[in-house]
Amino acid sequence: MAAKLNPIDMAKYVSARRALDYVEDGMRIGLGTGSTAAWMVRCLGDMVREDGLRVTGVPTSSRTADLARQVGVPIATLEDVKWLDLTIDGADEFDQDLNLIKGGGGALLQEKIVATASDMMVVITDASKNVETLGAFPLPVEVIPFGWQTTKALIEESLIGMDVGGRAVTLRLNRDAPFRTDEGNLILDLHVKRIGNPRQLALVLNQIPGVVENGLFLDICDVVIVGTADGAVEVRDINSGTITTEQVDLRDDDNIFVNVSD
Ligand code: 5RP
Repeated sequence: MAAKLNPIDMAKYVSARRALDYVEDGMRIGLGTGSTAAWMVRCLGDMVREDGLRVTGVPTSSRTADLARQVGVPIATLEDVKWLDLTIDGADEFDQDLNLIKGGGGALLQEKIVATASDMMVVITDASKNVETLGAFPLPVEVIPFGWQTTKALIEESLIGMDVGGRAVTLRLNRDAPFRTDEGNLILDLHVKRIGNPRQLALVLNQIPGVVENGLFLDICDVVIVGTADGAVEVRDINSGTITTEQVDLRDDDNIFVNVSD
């Protein structure tokens, strides 16, 4: 049975639709991970199948790769294409400087590599992800399994000297077992509540042996598109310093239904 999207999903869909205005024929595009990015991949699939758009997608996770194949977006690896024109991805938090926390879906490593290898990163989101100070969303840190408890202890120790609002660190679980990333690594979630100095924290974390990458995306994102359920979007562009409000033209044939029997 198909049901109309709830307001949050509608906002995600609207931001995804607006982000596709950045896509041009022939582009190599980083495909993000998560529920918002999934809308973008579905819409991109529509453009490939129905409008004959020619693009190459580089997925940031096995989940996104599966979805891209399903909806007909041609994909390649970053090794194949080496550099990208554009990456479109979601985020768990963004601030006024368009710095981000990512990794809620556990794909932060590939997401950061792909976004950094792109001329432009566009983040698609809804207003709930907008924060004054990063850190309410637990900061994901990818660590290798070998000696992870030691890595966790070192992270906890390093947080003592940091401008943060909390120091609890938890191992992410998938049901009862540790969550594994596409690389077979683990995720530690840092419940820091408030990150006073994201740059310092990112540097310190990445120097700890066993840490592969952290979920702070600093100076990587160019544009954030904040969607709303009624089709309005706010486009924040860090390079031009502009914030514009627009209306996304939702067509009658927009496929904005979910299969609730899934
Ligand atoms: C995955 C991510 C996602 O972009 C982030 O978690 C947002 O997900 P969603 O769009 O489902 O809210 O970083 O690693």
